[in-house]
Amino acid sequence: MNMVEHPGFVLWFTGLSGAGKTTIAVALEAQLRERGMRLERLDGDTVRQGLTRDLGFSKEDRDKNIERVTFVAKLLSRNNVAVLASFISPYIAHRDGVRAETTHFIEVFVDAPLEICAQRDVKGMYKKAFAGEIKNFTGVSDPYEPPINPEIHIHTDQETVDESVQRIVTWLEERQYIPAKVTA
Ligand code: ADX
Repeated sequence: MNMVEHPGFVLWFTGLSGAGKTTIAVALEAQLRERGMRLERLDGDTVRQGLTRDLGFSKEDRDKNIERVTFVAKLLSRNNVAVLASFISPYIAHRDGVRAETTHFIEVFVDAPLEICAQRDVKGMYKKAFAGEIKNFTGVSDPYEPPINPEIHIHTDQETVDESVQRIVTWLEERQYIPAKVTA
């Protein structure tokens, strides 16, 4: 497939575990690939099995996790690759660090109330966190600092995945970060 012209950018999905970061990024990835874009998806759960597998969830380790991912996102975004990054990234200072280092940083707050994330409990981790079996669990026994002025704010308890994805696509189209969809 011919690749189309587009700038590099970093869509940074932040939010609690279970808020829907990965689900939205995966659905968006499919749409952007249809448009022939160069992109890379980075996800906490998979990156932590490789690049950052030596790290845990203390503030220092989360800091290092985001620092390494920032480095990768910087290299990709400056070479015109669209980066879809899903990390809890609970600290404002860490996210501001990514913003400062990368090309066209777009903060996407994937927002859902803690009770909803805990109800969904996709990975069964909230149950363990509430039982004290997992320490320093974000939102339960560790902080999450919500974005103050994110470029895009998504409420996954109030809109469908398709609606959220469409909102992001429109946002990107309006700023010419992504090419218009080619219709046959
Ligand atoms: S971050 O805080 O450093 O940005 P990251 O997004 O990479 O976190 O990883 C979060 C994932 O790790 C969660 O989706 C969950 O599956 C898993 N996890 C394991 N322990 C914890 C914990 N204490 N707090 C948050 N997530 C955890």
